[in-house]
Amino acid sequence: MEGGQLLQRYNHAIPRYTSYPTVPQWQTWSNQDGWKEQLTAVGGTTQEGLAIYIHLPYCEHLCTYCGCNKKITTNHRVEKPYIERLLQEWRLYLRALGDDRMLIRELHLGGGTPTFFAPEQLKQLIEGIFEHAGRHPQLEMSFEGHPNNTTHEHLQVLREMGFQRVSFGVQDLDPEVQRVINRIQPLENLVQVTQWSRNIGYESVNYDLVYGLPLQTEEKLAKTLTEVIALRPDRVAFYGYAHVPWKSRAQRLYDESHLPTPEQRAALYELGRQAFLEAGYEDIGMDHFALPQDSLLKALHSKTLHRNFMGYTANPSKVLIGLGVSAISDLGAAFGQNSKELVQWERMVDAGQFPVEKGLLLSQEDIIRQKMILQMSCLGEVELPNSWTFLEHQHALLNQMLADELLQLEGNRLSLTATGKLFTRHACSLFDAYLMPENALLKQFSQAV
Ligand SMILES: C[S@@+](CC[C@H](N)C(=O)[O-])C[C@H]1O[C@@H](n2cnc3c(N)ncnc32)[C@H](O)[C@@H]1O
Ligand code: SF4
Repeated sequence: MEGGQLLQRYNHAIPRYTSYPTVPQWQTWSNQDGWKEQLTAVGGTTQEGLAIYIHLPYCEHLCTYCGCNKKITTNHRVEKPYIERLLQEWRLYLRALGDDRMLIRELHLGGGTPTFFAPEQLKQLIEGIFEHAGRHPQLEMSFEGHPNNTTHEHLQVLREMGFQRVSFGVQDLDPEVQRVINRIQPLENLVQVTQWSRNIGYESVNYDLVYGLPLQTEEKLAKTLTEVIALRPDRVAFYGYAHVPWKSRAQRLYDESHLPTPEQRAALYELGRQAFLEAGYEDIGMDHFALPQDSLLKALHSKTLHRNFMGYTANPSKVLIGLGVSAISDLGAAFGQNSKELVQWERMVDAGQFPVEKGLLLSQEDIIRQKMILQMSCLGEVELPNSWTFLEHQHALLNQMLADELLQLEGNRLSLTATGKLFTRHACSLFDAYLMPENALLKQFSQAV
């Protein structure tokens, strides 16, 4: 069966497995002492290096396709109080972790649009974070920039603060697609910020592209791909458009007949994948591609690749602390997500409380399954324990994937084949005890391809 036909056959709604159990399984979390206890438990391990994710939610313009947690405003007076609260939230963590030799190994600024903030504000944020924490020798710092508002000064100041990686949202360069998603972003802006980043000395430039957007066609995407590949980004995230109008209201503005059909989506993905492979990129898995010298590929080949809420990473930190509205933390034995409502997040931080609103304590079984899902997503294979039994409804998918030669089973080793790599999410779902076949929760995930 050809790649395109397979993509259609396996066109189910499957999570991206940036966590297991996935966020829809988490419950309301109101136990402040419980969160502190979890932090105390990891406090002694922070010299190995923590990962920090900071969510900066503001954007000046609404891109109607966007599924991220964002707040649209042109009022830049919001910057200072937001940064101050982030640092206040960080101090809560420092106190609970109680470890004055803490090292940070990964720091990522995501959004919203981090470059909505003035360079000076971002500088204060980073200085505040490192006031009581050391830099791990292998520290990796990255941020998301919008090509329309990332200035030379942003890039210069953040490079001086230690950032080596920058990720630009590109999505699609076609004017008609840009109009319908309300994101007018000329190619010149992307060329400019990419050149600046390289001249200033960033080690890695990442682009985000999206397939499956309204009015996107193979012809239009092919042109975008040619333009993008000519700029040689070190990494590319090629996401499938998640159409979740019940969550992201602006997506309701779309005429759904403008959305590519599942067959067209599969063809768009295949077009992109082939273009990247032909241009010398390697497929990392789950929609990510990188040039051979990139650290993600080195980690993939040395079997040290890891995956967390930020996606694939070469950094092995076991603990991730999320700061800011809607940010997610992974404390090893517990997950937590901050309030998605800005006002509520502000109130809780002001009251000296962890603004965690949803969370989960992992069971022993969750931890075993989580490990297997991580192995499948990062290594493409899992050594099944002797006693392992798949859940009843997972047999059909397993047998289908074996029959379609997407998976192979040698002894106890279940591994993805070269074509199977396209279906990494499906293979991961074989270990997901919460994903029921006809579960209404499926609606909460976007289409897998
Ligand atoms: C939070 S945005 C940050 C980038 C920055 N704000 C910008 O727009 O350039 C991160 C990425 O998520 C992806 N994204 C946002 N909404 C999406 C959706 N509905 N479906 C798929 N990907 C989406 C886009 O590729 C986007 O670049
Ligand atoms: S895509 Fe980026 S700039 Fe556009 S609304 Fe989403 S977060 Fe903001």
